[in-house]
Amino acid sequence: LRDVSLTVYPRQVVALLGPSGSGKTTLLNVIGCILGASSGSMALDGERVIEDGRWLRSDLRRLRLDKIGFIFQFHNLIPFLDATENVALVLRLAGKDAETARARAIELLDYLEVGNRRSAMPAKLSGGEAQRVAIARALANRPRIILADEPTAALDSKRAG
Ligand SMILES: Nc1ncnc2c1ncn2[C@@H]1O[C@H](COP(=O)(O)OP(=O)(O)O)[C@@H](O)[C@H]1O
Ligand SMILES: [Mg+2]
Repeated sequence: LRDVSLTVYPRQVVALLGPSGSGKTTLLNVIGCILGASSGSMALDGERVIEDGRWLRSDLRRLRLDKIGFIFQFHNLIPFLDATENVALVLRLAGKDAETARARAIELLDYLEVGNRRSAMPAKLSGGEAQRVAIARALANRPRIILADEPTAALDSKRAG
């Protein structure tokens, strides 16, 4: 990544456009605190997290859990957990009790019209269903920042909207 300078304000929706290989996924991975940066600085939700290419925080897992919902280009669901458990997991990691986590997971899966597949394992889901489960997971903890890497590539045009 070179010369990336970007400020995103609350409630703003920004679309990154660029040819394949131009670095869209790489940039999202840096913003999502999955990849570090060799130089430059970044703040998330008002808090500086990278300064001159160095992390200012060591608890990146906590930071991601608290602030960021990431919808990956490929859904990255955990293969041995069913759809509901995949969504409930991030709620449990954020401190919700099992019952609350499960109820919210089911509510989100229903909202994304994939509630009928709630007990299915990821391998049994279609690409679009898996992507919707992944979207439910990204929304589960009501993150301040939602990062979506080509989130509609696997969805039909009606649902992409
Ligand atoms: N983990 C990696 N290590 C080294 N190079 C990578 C890695 N991931 C992606 N790249 C390279 O970085 C460039 C940008 O990739 P990427 O961010 O995936 O682009 P986009 O999402 O815009 O298609 C590409 O040239 C790609 O081959
Ligand atoms: Mg990409």
